[in-house]
Amino acid sequence: MFESIKNQIGNVKKIVFVTGAGISQESGIPTFRGKDGLWRNNDVMKLATIDAFYDDPKLVWEWYNERRHNIFSAEPNQGHKAIAELEKFADVVVLTQNIDGLHQKAGSRNVLELHGSIVKIKCTVCDFNDEIMVDFSENPPLCKCGNILRPDVVWFGESLPQDVWQNAINHANHCDLMIIVGTSLVVSPANTLPIYAKQNNATLIEINPENTEMSLDMDLAIRDTSAKVLPEFVSLFK
Ligand code: APR
Repeated sequence: MFESIKNQIGNVKKIVFVTGAGISQESGIPTFRGKDGLWRNNDVMKLATIDAFYDDPKLVWEWYNERRHNIFSAEPNQGHKAIAELEKFADVVVLTQNIDGLHQKAGSRNVLELHGSIVKIKCTVCDFNDEIMVDFSENPPLCKCGNILRPDVVWFGESLPQDVWQNAINHANHCDLMIIVGTSLVVSPANTLPIYAKQNNATLIEINPENTEMSLDMDLAIRDTSAKVLPEFVSLFK
């Protein structure tokens, strides 16, 4: 599977992973596009927006509460665990679009959450923010200041946390190998990270059962699932 780039892997020092919903699919967490892209016949792309939230906060919170339950009971799969194990052999950084915390749960220590986290909650008005794992007693949940609380995640049209994004670009610019796993690469700016890496002569590997917008730019595109491929990749370092 990795024969064509085996020699490039030999002297790899820094590996950056860019991961998306696909890496958590085998942990039972639905992806956003394709067959999983609907929730109660709502296009999740439309729910994950600031307009949908202000239009119907109760509905968006129903979706997020269901996602919270699903995510809190999910376990990391062999793909997450392989990335965590790789830290024994190389300098590894994970740039994830996922908000499920499964990379950290698997033991990865250098994880940048580009789109926020499902446990982080913030007030829509005051500067209250906290990590909340328990269920809310009301929908929509209210802040002590009386205003509605919201998930502290990046919705379409919102900018990423600037410090996180600048840090992510820096890692993408300074890696020998970038492995893009389980993402359709349709959402910006996360989908520009492989371009930064390529401009700095990194080797690009894509792990995805399907083609993506950048498959032709990859040095190696592996058409299989992450839980299967990543353990095999890590075995190259043992
Ligand atoms: N292993 C690897 N890849 C997989 C697997 C798997 N087992 N199952 C599905 N995939 C791939 C799909 O082929 C698809 O290319 O994962 C990708 C998932 O793509 P999306 O559903 O678009 O998810 P993602 O790319 O993470 O979306 C980016 O969009 O909805 C917003 O903010 C949200 O972070 C999300 C962003």
